[in-house]
Amino acid sequence: MSGNRFEGKVAIITGAAWGMGFQHATRLSEEGASVVLLDIQAERVVDSASKLPRSLGIPCDVTRADQVAAALEQAASRFGGIDILVNNAGGSLAAPRPLWELPEDYYDRVLALNLKAHWLCVRAALPAMRSRGGGKVINIASFAPLIGSGGMAAYAGAKMGVIGQTRSMAAELGPLGINVNAIAPGLIDVPHEKVVFSREDFEKTAADHIARQAIKRVGTPNDISGAVLYLASSDSDFMAGQVLIVDGGHGLFNFAEGWAK
Ligand SMILES: NC(=O)c1ccc[n+]([C@@H]2O[C@H](COP(=O)([O-])OP(=O)(O)OC[C@H]3O[C@@H](n4cnc5c(N)ncnc54)[C@H](O)[C@@H]3O)[C@@H](O)[C@H]2O)c1
Repeated sequence: MSGNRFEGKVAIITGAAWGMGFQHATRLSEEGASVVLLDIQAERVVDSASKLPRSLGIPCDVTRADQVAAALEQAASRFGGIDILVNNAGGSLAAPRPLWELPEDYYDRVLALNLKAHWLCVRAALPAMRSRGGGKVINIASFAPLIGSGGMAAYAGAKMGVIGQTRSMAAELGPLGINVNAIAPGLIDVPHEKVVFSREDFEKTAADHIARQAIKRVGTPNDISGAVLYLASSDSDFMAGQVLIVDGGHGLFNFAEGWAK
């Protein structure tokens, strides 16, 4: 669907050089938003942004307070404010490993990327959102902590933290006209080469997940964009501190398994 729900709005999407972030940016742009793409992949984020109208790509490490502050200031001064922030940058940074083998600096990096960065970005976006009279923050969590994910202690811990932090942010910022909500995606097949899993490992993991899901396929980035656009739009004005779980119905038990022909 495309329309003009976001005409005149300015949206920041982190981790938008490719993957789900770029899809969210594309969909917001198609519906009229000016979009600012942030990513640590400097060349790729500038190149990806150049494919969208009314856009800006800014190389930025979202775990660095100074870089986040500079990027959001640049975005706000270019487009006159900030209305929507999608905290999408994240990831487990490495394949699953036993918790007793996780290097301490890896644990700290995963927490910084998946949890602290949300706080840094929200804090930096606040003045520009308040100058517009309110806004929308969408924090990307994961189904990982909800289903329980052995081998992913740091990542699942950080993503569960996203849910707690989202609820705190929602309580504090709701009175200022800023809705803060989260999305917990299930397994999503992003179109570029796998950074953490080989394609073969991904296919094996996917088959395992699909067997546990009501919807018998892996998700696509666009499946998550639908939820992002809903939370970015006025249709969700009465929602705060909630988590939309978009995971194909992972873990739903079915007494009627195999009955439907
Ligand atoms: N793919 C899945 O199955 C899945 C499932 C649940 C949740 N998620 C979450 O969805 C979000 C997007 O995932 P994706 O699969 O599109 O991942 P991805 O790895 O394709 O994209 C993540 C983007 O974040 C960027 N990034 C990494 N570190 C950064 C940093 N320090 N500063 C700025 N940018 C940085 C990367 O360069 C990349 O472009 C992440 O938060 C991820 O944890 C993904």
